[in-house]
Amino acid sequence: MSGTNLAPTSGDCINKWITVNTYCLQDFLEETKLKRFESLHQFWRELDSKYPPQKVKELERAYAKLEDNDEAGFYATIFSDYELALTFSGLRISLCQAVIDWILVCLSESNPQKILDAGCGNGILTCFLAKRFPDATIIGIDISAEGIEQARKLALNLSLTNIKFEVGDIKDFSFDATDSFDLILSVAALEVTSPFLIKQLHNLGKHLSEDGLMLNFEKLSNPQIQKYFVQALGESGICADLEKSKWLSYENADGDEIHLPAFASTKKSDQEPISNDLAQSFLLTEFNLLSSLDLSFKQEALSELLFNQINPKQLVRGYKAGFNDGSGTYWFEQWQSGPFALLYEHTNQGYRNLRILPLYLAANFDQIFEEWLDQTAKYADLEQIK
Ligand SMILES: C[S@@+](CC[C@H](N)C(=O)[O-])C[C@H]1O[C@@H](n2cnc3c(N)ncnc32)[C@H](O)[C@@H]1O
Repeated sequence: MSGTNLAPTSGDCINKWITVNTYCLQDFLEETKLKRFESLHQFWRELDSKYPPQKVKELERAYAKLEDNDEAGFYATIFSDYELALTFSGLRISLCQAVIDWILVCLSESNPQKILDAGCGNGILTCFLAKRFPDATIIGIDISAEGIEQARKLALNLSLTNIKFEVGDIKDFSFDATDSFDLILSVAALEVTSPFLIKQLHNLGKHLSEDGLMLNFEKLSNPQIQKYFVQALGESGICADLEKSKWLSYENADGDEIHLPAFASTKKSDQEPISNDLAQSFLLTEFNLLSSLDLSFKQEALSELLFNQINPKQLVRGYKAGFNDGSGTYWFEQWQSGPFALLYEHTNQGYRNLRILPLYLAANFDQIFEEWLDQTAKYADLEQIK
């Protein structure tokens, strides 16, 4: 186990050493001898060197089944053999890295005690989590008995004792009612284009603890499927947490750069379901709206023109400041238009400044307004207009 011992910073009063677990994917790759492939060509050359031509032909046919949407057929072939399953996992290291980085950021302030990996396949991510969170109990389920067999072998080879694998279907597996999880992970395992999606998410949500976090990454490759996924989350009684949700970037087996949304959600009953506008604003960040639209239209005429052209829009909050020295009146307003928030500043002297941001970042505006109010109160009388 990799760990960094951090010495106490000062004094004898702290006599405990804190161990930070820094076990990372690289450690895992070394331990499992999992090989990362730079290209499909390199991958097939490796298979050519390991297996007889007839077997490679069979594997090529199995791989083609993925394109025909016959996932079960594909997994039945590759999970038939431990080494083979691991070799295929070598095609997904970049994706695993992106998912792991995201999980660790989401868990930076928590230490999950019970983790479920739903649709765990041959247990790569499940075993990584068991290594990274040695005090947690981890369960992996998968519909494929062959997948579970290989996952158990992997756990055994890694001498893991905090992990268990079971055959189960995501849409109707069941644990004891008391068995809830702090973290539920599901990667590329849900039926994202079928009506079963709601049933699957509902069943996962049922097993999430009150403060638990569910992390879903699926290949939601077009806006319709992305929207359907957010809707299905809402209909299944769980609530997307757009602060922890993130667009993941990784390289696929063909070496193409892929960007897809990954959703974090909770089952907090006091939380409002995510509105379409909020979800849309998160989904639009793929086009880098955060950096490209967080513009300050310093040119005042342009700011005013654009602000007047964006319709319909509603005022969400606003303040008016009358400067004590009589130098003028200043307005600072937050408007909403569809999935965008507009921060508009203007004065009776002609100053105009417009910023357009994805609506799901609106929570950050509280701080912007607070700072503005603190500063402005020193020189002006303030009036809340909304
Ligand atoms: C692309 S693999 C992903 C495996 C693992 N999550 C990972 O990322 O390494 C998809 C897995 O989902 C499993 N799966 C598909 N439908 C399922 C279902 N209804 N219930 C449980 N597992 C399912 C498949 O058997 C397969 O192992």
